[in-house]
Amino acid sequence: MKLKIKRFLNNKSYFDEYEVDFRDDETILELLDRIRDKDRSLTYRSFCRSSICGTCTIKANNKTILACKSKVKDFIENDELVIEPVDKAKVIKDLVVDNSFLEEKIKKVNGWFVDEIDVTKENLQTPEELKKYDKQTDCILCGACFYECDALEYDKNFAGPFAFTKVYRFVFDSRDKMDKQQRIEIAKENLLYNCINCQKCAIVCPKGISSMMDIKMLQMKDKNPPFSDSFNFF
Ligand code: SF4
Ligand code: SF4
Ligand code: FES
Repeated sequence: MKLKIKRFLNNKSYFDEYEVDFRDDETILELLDRIRDKDRSLTYRSFCRSSICGTCTIKANNKTILACKSKVKDFIENDELVIEPVDKAKVIKDLVVDNSFLEEKIKKVNGWFVDEIDVTKENLQTPEELKKYDKQTDCILCGACFYECDALEYDKNFAGPFAFTKVYRFVFDSRDKMDKQQRIEIAKENLLYNCINCQKCAIVCPKGISSMMDIKMLQMKDKNPPFSDSFNFF
């Protein structure tokens, strides 16, 4: 198989090419590790190696993936595998991008727990209450949904799929004490209604989260939707 890896150093980008064999069960991260054993200058991020830390997001043959979760054999096309950094983020070196936007976007939508919990007693929640937002807590902030999101092509101020999933997580958590409509209003300031339903966030998410559905649910819960006047027309 021909392996091409996009490199970026000193403001120059170029491809390194290799002829490599691969094991049937080999992950793309393991393949990168093998290349790096020969060329210590190759730079990429990884940590947990088990789809938990969200650091190893890259592109393989134009698909955004977690390198530690994806098998080489599943991504080869015409006996070739092209590895590149993700889109929509500034490349720092080789496959490493500046992902500081993850924190910035979460801050913009108030993506944290607001509580008035009495620490002297248990803050109980029923299994049914937990079920409402349990899936959304699986988000590992890998950014894959953001890198693929079409709404960001039109307006970079769109908070991004993962950020709205974070809003959903707190709007549907019965323990969170921030006013739910206030959370939705903040989401609207960050262009909640700009989602164009392309579904790419749901397709790409390694944790099976559909941010598109989370956005729809937030829109349905909105007591003051921006298009209410036009709805009245009908
Ligand atoms: S469905 Fe909406 S949030 Fe998801 S990738 Fe498409 S535009 Fe972005
Ligand atoms: S929603 Fe999925 S794709 Fe998006 S950051 Fe979270 S885990 Fe990654
Ligand atoms: S190395 Fe942690 S998600 Fe891939």
